[in-house]
Amino acid sequence: METRALDATDPDNRSLAIEEAARLLLAGELVAFPTETVYGLGASALDERAIARVFEVKGRPLDNPLIVHVADIAAIASVALVDERVERLAAAFMPGPLTLVLPARDAVPASARGGLATVAVRIPDHPVALELLRAAGPLVGPSANVSGRPSPTRAAHVIDDLSGRIAAVLDGGPCRVGIESTVLDLSSGDARILRPGLVEPAAIEAVLGAEVATAGGNDRRSPGTRYRHYAPTAAVRLVLAEQPPVIAPGARIVLTTRRHLDRFNGVFVRLLTEERLYALLRDADDAGIEEIVIYAEPGELAPGLLDRVTRAAGAEH
Ligand code: TXA
Ligand code: MG
Repeated sequence: METRALDATDPDNRSLAIEEAARLLLAGELVAFPTETVYGLGASALDERAIARVFEVKGRPLDNPLIVHVADIAAIASVALVDERVERLAAAFMPGPLTLVLPARDAVPASARGGLATVAVRIPDHPVALELLRAAGPLVGPSANVSGRPSPTRAAHVIDDLSGRIAAVLDGGPCRVGIESTVLDLSSGDARILRPGLVEPAAIEAVLGAEVATAGGNDRRSPGTRYRHYAPTAAVRLVLAEQPPVIAPGARIVLTTRRHLDRFNGVFVRLLTEERLYALLRDADDAGIEEIVIYAEPGELAPGLLDRVTRAAGAEH
């Protein structure tokens, strides 16, 4: 199959591109679509066969559940049981990079839930995604990478990983946030963060008026966080220290925050932000870089970025 590029970045072509993507999805095809976080691998959330193909194309373990993307708050209630906490969080953060794990309605295929009684839902804050969801209905949308690779934040990343295996990629330009959504489990009494992201615990606590736990160890983590993630082919060394390390020149690159950019001599240095991280990891591989050194001071990186660079380095934290 030839993967078509549907260009929604050109205002003249945008509506046509979205209509065509919706048509393909409703016909049971897979179409990657842009969100504010990363590109998602879209399939109709009610189509068991299309969902099965999502797992196959990504090489994703079947027990790792998918996020159901919907266009509005009313649609959340059609796939999950909502309570007053959901309404408050939705008013504060949706559309946006926050995914809620809630008790699932029967309408959601068990395969999308990885066999769990819960379902993860979110409303992406991206005009192209929202228009697509209004036209095609709820979509499952894991990140549109091959499992284990860095998530795609540009349409070209999707093509690199999945060309020939999906019907189309809807190009909405680079993703603004760049790391995946915060996953918050509300399926039991206490609220718990399963995956850190741009929406941080303190902001959620302020809205809920209750403490939010962060999953540690292997208890009640998102099934997906058990697997190695965000990993380029190059070795990744994470240095969190008061002083920057001395880096020998060679096939190396340093990723660091703005205030340390000029503290490295004789090596390639790139600015590290959430928005740029995955593109930098992929570019390093394309350029044949052997080692990526990521440097920041302790406490300097926000929780979502710290989580992703820690995983890219293959370490737990
Ligand atoms: O920003 C994002 O969330 C992106 C964009 C495309 O929306 N999507 C994304 O999907 O990152 P994915 O499939 O790569 O990651 C979903 C995460 C996984 O860690 C998965 O285990 C977890 O959410 N998850 C999904 N359903 C769950 C459930 N019912 N209970 C616990 N964790 C769940
Ligand atoms: Mg993923």
